[in-house]
Amino acid sequence: MKLEVKSLADLPKVARQLLNFAGNQKTFIFEGDMGAGKTTFIKAFCEVLGVKEVVSSPTYSIVNEYEGADGPVYHFDFYRIKDIQEAYDLGYEEYFYGNGICLIEWPERVEELLTDHFIKIQIAIIDESHRTIVFSSI
Ligand SMILES: Nc1ncnc2c1ncn2[C@@H]1O[C@H](COP(=O)(O)OP(=O)(O)OP(=O)(O)O)[C@@H](O)[C@H]1O
Ligand SMILES: [Mg+2]
Repeated sequence: MKLEVKSLADLPKVARQLLNFAGNQKTFIFEGDMGAGKTTFIKAFCEVLGVKEVVSSPTYSIVNEYEGADGPVYHFDFYRIKDIQEAYDLGYEEYFYGNGICLIEWPERVEELLTDHFIKIQIAIIDESHRTIVFSSI
């Protein structure tokens, strides 16, 4: 499923479409270059999930935890992970195989740890405010 995002104003609608697309799937991986809009889209998606807290990229840790309408939402940013051991140290299995929703930026950094099935979101920059977003179910 491929969507055109002409501006930030389109994101809430696209976030609702992602929720519909996902069905019962609880793991979401976000691919796209630096500045593509992964965190920005995750913010919009968290609103749809009923998160009331401020959503921002985890700065001091790899994972942020929010409370969504149907339980915990875990927001990972693996950009700065040094090695796979760091993922084990943070107890990734509890998150990836638990009941919460996992939203993962820079999943490429932990590819070997990802679950067998997930929703993939690929964001590509077209120009300053124009993006394409592709959803796929893996
Ligand atoms: N249609 C759009 N969708 C998403 N972001 C947009 C859009 N138009 C403009 N932007 C801007 O692009 C920037 C995206 O930054 P963001 O931090 O979300 O990227 P990121 O993919 O998470 O980068 P990083 O890899 O560094 O984490 C923001 O400044 C945002 O306002
Ligand atoms: Mg980000």
